[in-house]
Amino acid sequence: MKRKILLGVTGSVAAYKAAELVRLFVKNGDEVKVVMTKAATEFVTPLTFRTLSRNPVAVEEFAPPQSWVPEHIALAEWADIALVAPATANTLAKMRCGIADNLLTSVLLATKARIFIAPAMNTGMLEAAATRENIAVLKERGVSVIEPGEGELACGASGKGRFPGAETIFGAVK
Ligand SMILES: Cc1cc2nc3c(=O)[nH]c(=O)nc-3n(C[C@H](O)[C@H](O)[C@H](O)COP(=O)(O)O)c2cc1C
Repeated sequence: MKRKILLGVTGSVAAYKAAELVRLFVKNGDEVKVVMTKAATEFVTPLTFRTLSRNPVAVEEFAPPQSWVPEHIALAEWADIALVAPATANTLAKMRCGIADNLLTSVLLATKARIFIAPAMNTGMLEAAATRENIAVLKERGVSVIEPGEGELACGASGKGRFPGAETIFGAVK
């Protein structure tokens, strides 16, 4: 069955790996719309996601919407599944608190879709009490957490926090 997947991409070095994820969903017959945070666009251009998803990519909350309906509401109602991959510590903290200060966090607050998150970050950020608590609270609220892997991190260190990889995330959402 064709699923409507809203993919939120946030400002992690692993953002480029989300491009492969889009390709896997599209190959599976899913429809994908990508919302990027401004920080994510520092790592990968919207053009990559627009081409792979075959849909416009949204970043700006106050850009003119496609119809009179505000874009964050249109996207929130459109999605069957909302997946944030990679999910930064910052965006997870906002989700936990209900902060809606950009297009992605507004969509995530408004949507009734099932939400998945794939945290990716440096081990210190992941093991910080705040992040651990934020992830635990999101889990309690029914958010599905795709656990980060262990290994070499982009910051040069080794430990937990690695983006789980496109195939793993695709399998988890399936
Ligand atoms: C080179 C670089 C790599 C980063 N990688 C990560 C990361 O993997 N995970 C993370 O949580 N934050 C990472 N950050 C920090 C985030 O980009 C920063 O917290 C940003 O405000 C996140 O914004 P967003 O959640 O709106 O995307 C990185 C920053 C830089 C400069």
